[in-house]
Amino acid sequence: MRKPLIALAGLAVGGAALAGLVFSGALNRSVVSSKVETPLTAEQIKQLAPHGAKVAAAADCYACHTARGGAPWAGGMPFETPFGVIHATNISPSPEGIGGWSRAAFHRALRDGIAPGGRHLYPAMPYTSYRGMSEGDVDALFAYMTTRAPMPVANAKNGLAFPFDQRWTLAAWNFLHLPASVAEPDPERSALWNRGRYVTEALGHCGECHTPRDLTQGLRQSQALTGAVIEGLEAPDITPTGLTRMGFSPASLATFMGSGLSAQGSATHQMFDVVHFSTRHMDRADLTAMAAYLFDRDALAEEAPPAPPTPAPVAADVTARAEKTYAGLCAGCHGAKGEGIPHVSVPMRGNASLRTASASGFVRAVLAGLPAQSFPNGERMEAMPGFAADLDDAAIVDLTNWMRAEWGGQAPTVRAQDVASVRATLTTRHAAGE
Ligand code: HEC
Ligand code: HEC
Ligand code: HEC
Repeated sequence: MRKPLIALAGLAVGGAALAGLVFSGALNRSVVSSKVETPLTAEQIKQLAPHGAKVAAAADCYACHTARGGAPWAGGMPFETPFGVIHATNISPSPEGIGGWSRAAFHRALRDGIAPGGRHLYPAMPYTSYRGMSEGDVDALFAYMTTRAPMPVANAKNGLAFPFDQRWTLAAWNFLHLPASVAEPDPERSALWNRGRYVTEALGHCGECHTPRDLTQGLRQSQALTGAVIEGLEAPDITPTGLTRMGFSPASLATFMGSGLSAQGSATHQMFDVVHFSTRHMDRADLTAMAAYLFDRDALAEEAPPAPPTPAPVAADVTARAEKTYAGLCAGCHGAKGEGIPHVSVPMRGNASLRTASASGFVRAVLAGLPAQSFPNGERMEAMPGFAADLDDAAIVDLTNWMRAEWGGQAPTVRAQDVASVRATLTTRHAAGE
């Protein structure tokens, strides 16, 4: 609990120091041009809306702005932050949402993080990333949003502690963390790489989960995409080093982002939602560009996937116990040799979840199971049961260390407290009725 407290103190002090500047308006660094003060015509809105639908999918607006089972675009999704709960708002064109917003107001909300009336938005809305969106794409998005059905749903109340309920303090946060300008295309790099950077950073906002944050929750750009912890789960390193470690090639990464499935396993937890609501709707050219950017290549050629991992040594007693557990509980679905069963379950041999630095995602899957998930092209995976009640921490340590070593090539370093801490997050979440 120390981290949020330090952050709280830091933000309060920083906030107080900058309050004067805020009220003097000196921190206003808009990237929105005066061109968007001119309203779009009805004809322009009609023409732009179909492209806006694609932008909305690539930027994953729906997933956050629609509560599960709730009215489309009417908001209500809760986000746990170290400072309390924030809810995504209604962005349908009703009076409770963005009904009556001007084109310019929409641009400022998306790229500056400021809603009409100078109301600062919380960075749970990823405007830090959307700041890089092009004017044309934001116009298209505006056209698409204003042509959705209006939903008369009131916004949920946030549960933020003082001083985080004071929106003006966000001007200080923006001063510290919001880039003053937007990245221009890099003339030294190919069009493919530049498009990939735009799709990954501005639209896909991968860094919002995969880049670590500092004490005041700003993204540490010096460690961009090197991995971070999101709601107790590791969003792994997706730099070229991290992707290669998980066994991805550019081609298999593009396949994974487009379908949620590849030889490296299936998309799970928050990553399933990213694929389901967003990246699977991207066209092949954008998926390829994203893969080129993430592997830092100007062009992609046919290449062999990285070599399968070399098994790491494990103690004989661990192997004996783990093999028994695996044969009894897992082999029926994942195959006796970890080879998987087509259309039923994914292979374990070479699975990315066995090769990441942290085993938390793997342990979470074993404890809590995974829901049945449907993937594009009619592919479907059955549900996986959770084994929290069948396996104690010691048994899961053995199983995890053995599987990671045997099929992921990772040194067996998982300890009982690693499993216990994942188990603890499950209990509190279930107790909270989630
Ligand atoms: C990761 C979740 C997330 C994603 C993705 C996201 N939003 Fe948001 N958005 C939020 C949250 C949370 C708020 C409320 C912030 C606040 O209350 O300060 C918000 C607020 C807004 C607002 C301000 C509405 C108001 O009246 O306060 C607009 C407009 C908006 N989002 C549009 C979008 C669009 C368009 C996209 C896609 C390009 C998008 N959002 C993607 C979480 C998200
Ligand atoms: C909402 C947070 C979030 C966003 C946004 C996000 N990811 Fe992830 N990602 C995760 C988490 C969490 C995991 C680990 C999943 C697990 O362990 O079950 C993950 C896993 C992955 C993996 C490893 C494969 C796997 O399933 O373990 C890749 C590759 C990946 N993400 C790429 C991306 C790319 C590219 C983007 C941007 C288009 C992106 N992610 C956006 C949270 C996110
Ligand atoms: C009833 C069948 C079933 C059993 C039994 C089962 N699994 Fe699974 N498992 C699945 C399915 C299906 C998936 C893919 C889920 C999805 O993507 O929707 C999966 C996914 C996983 C994943 C995530 C892999 C990835 O690609 O992200 C891990 C890790 C895992 N299983 C480990 C185990 C272990 C360890 C056991 C034994 C303790 C086990 N499973 C038992 C069906 C099963």
